[in-house]
Amino acid sequence: HPPGFQMGENSGLRAANCRAKGGAPGFKVAILGAAGGIGQPLALLMKINPLVSVLHLYDVVNTPGVTADISHMDTGAVVRGFLGPQQLDNALSGMDLVIIPAGVPRKPGMTRDDLFNINAGIVKTLCEGITRCCPNAIVNLISNPVNSTVPIAAEVFKKAGTYDPKRLLGVTMLDVVRANTFVAEVLGLDPREVDVPVVGGHAGVTILPLLSQVKPPSSFTPKEIDYLTDRIQNGGTEVVEAKAGTGSATLSMAYAAVKFADACLRGLRGDSGVVECAFVASPVTELPFFASKVRLGRTGAEEIYPLGPLNEYERAGLEKAKKELAASIEKGVSFIRK
Ligand code: NAI
Repeated sequence: HPPGFQMGENSGLRAANCRAKGGAPGFKVAILGAAGGIGQPLALLMKINPLVSVLHLYDVVNTPGVTADISHMDTGAVVRGFLGPQQLDNALSGMDLVIIPAGVPRKPGMTRDDLFNINAGIVKTLCEGITRCCPNAIVNLISNPVNSTVPIAAEVFKKAGTYDPKRLLGVTMLDVVRANTFVAEVLGLDPREVDVPVVGGHAGVTILPLLSQVKPPSSFTPKEIDYLTDRIQNGGTEVVEAKAGTGSATLSMAYAAVKFADACLRGLRGDSGVVECAFVASPVTELPFFASKVRLGRTGAEEIYPLGPLNEYERAGLEKAKKELAASIEKGVSFIRK
């Protein structure tokens, strides 16, 4: 097995070999930024996921401890840890899915774009590793600003000649999770019964909940629409302020990341009808990237659904979203091309 470290080396090896011989079906998943606020609960939840046979935890700090800890869970996935840039390639070799929550989070008063200068370089480095070691993996990009980091990843992959737009997905699932929760609260429903499409991007006004398309079909007063739109767009800031300088959403994000990763793995397995919102290369607007519902299959985002009928309020929101998105996308693209 690849250099890196694994607790209980021998038993782990036998477990891995057993699966390699055609035991439990499962996918190989790497988490980059696995020791962080999102990374740790994400690692915990992926260790529980029955679709995962091998889980690689990579970070530039603290992966020995996180790996030792997670590896004691009596679930199926074999866990291996990787520390620092010299182990990045081993962490990535042979992976089916790579989830990236690496990078700095917001503090009160910051926008996601304020993170660009640090996170753009981190995402670039990690994506270069993907081109070398697992160019066919599905990539779930969480690092902010997602509206710019997804275009950065696409440019890195294009440069290496490995770009497949279907396999690169920006994770906007937390916006959907929040929208489902807040809308259910207003409607007095169980959030598990509510489905709110959230399109556009993942920052401020680019987060566009389509309340006219909520399932089950529901109508809202203008006041409710204003309240819900504002709360969904600023849900991240609500958490940043409550955490008062110690970070941004990590636990709900880990939940959302696993919900999305699990959908990607079910798609890879060949399940039909797996549909979630994601920020992807998209033909639905004139912009090169846009978030909308996508159908996940064996090759990634196999079908991108159009936005559907929008009301006047949503059309106005769309115009605002597109303006900001265009600038964020351009910023990401030129970071690599310049
Ligand atoms: P954190 O600071 O707690 O953890 C980030 C981890 O990344 C740290 O363990 C750090 O060592 C690691 N890291 C830094 N440079 C690295 C590199 N070159 N290679 C590998 N790992 C590296 O931050 P947190 O709260 O986990 O957030 C991570 C990112 O996720 C932030 O950019 C944040 O803005 C974003 N985020 C995205 C959301 C979304 O909906 N897409 C929601 C919430 C956060």
